[in-house]
Amino acid sequence: MKLINFKWQQLILGLGCLLLMIACKSFYPTTNSDVKPLKVATDPTFVPFEIQTASGNLEGFDIDLMNALAQPAAGLTLSLSKGIAKVAGFAVQFESLPFDGMISTLQAKRVDAAISGITITAERLKTIAFSRPYFKAGLAIAVREDNQNIKDFKSLQGKKIAVQIGSTGADFAKTIPNAKISTFNSGPEFFQDLLNGNVDAVVSDAFATLYAIKNGKLKGIKVVADLLTQEYYGIATPKDSPYLDAINKGIATLLSNGTYKQIYQKWFNAEPPQLPDSWP
Ligand code: ARG
Repeated sequence: MKLINFKWQQLILGLGCLLLMIACKSFYPTTNSDVKPLKVATDPTFVPFEIQTASGNLEGFDIDLMNALAQPAAGLTLSLSKGIAKVAGFAVQFESLPFDGMISTLQAKRVDAAISGITITAERLKTIAFSRPYFKAGLAIAVREDNQNIKDFKSLQGKKIAVQIGSTGADFAKTIPNAKISTFNSGPEFFQDLLNGNVDAVVSDAFATLYAIKNGKLKGIKVVADLLTQEYYGIATPKDSPYLDAINKGIATLLSNGTYKQIYQKWFNAEPPQLPDSWP
């Protein structure tokens, strides 16, 4: 009888412990069940950095880079630095947002990061944080193919210029004396306005425009050779983001193990330029 009693006690104790463990697990998830996706904002109207395919999928240089940060490339397992392993623990969940709202969305911490060909600027650094530069870029003037007059900053004076709202192109256009500026929500729209003859020029990111021309998506438009600015794109996060360090280490790894070069060649068919490891 005594023996049976003892067994019952043990069983109840065991069951109690098990219940407690289950309860604790749901309150304090362990690392395995803690893999919540990193919410990453992007404005997929910007070839070839982020575009939405007809079937609704996202693709582009930025999308490949972000996915490479999240999932270690083949062969990159145990040798991962702690930083990238941390990033690798997260799946990426992209969220499409208009470019103009991206900085305030980051500020409000409604997303964990944004990748969208976002230029690192001193002004933006006042409210959000950026990773180390991941792309060397710059603004250029785009005009209709038959335009022979607009060649540089000076010849933009007094002209009608289209830009994307909230972009560095829009900031730049404000510095052109007597320019009449029209603002647009997304890239394709301002080129249409240029083709329609409503504006004389577009000021926007050179690589995006050149890519669209080369791939036959922008007929009748040319880019003025000299860049207006030199800019660097960074992955943006809210200030004091717990992910920024891991993102930076991840970029360093992709630069040194050849993955960055692969992605660059895939989209631009060229050797990537040297990148500084910090901004400016
Ligand atoms: N580089 C420019 C900027 O930071 C324009 C980027 C536009 N990106 C986009 N996905 N629409 O202001």
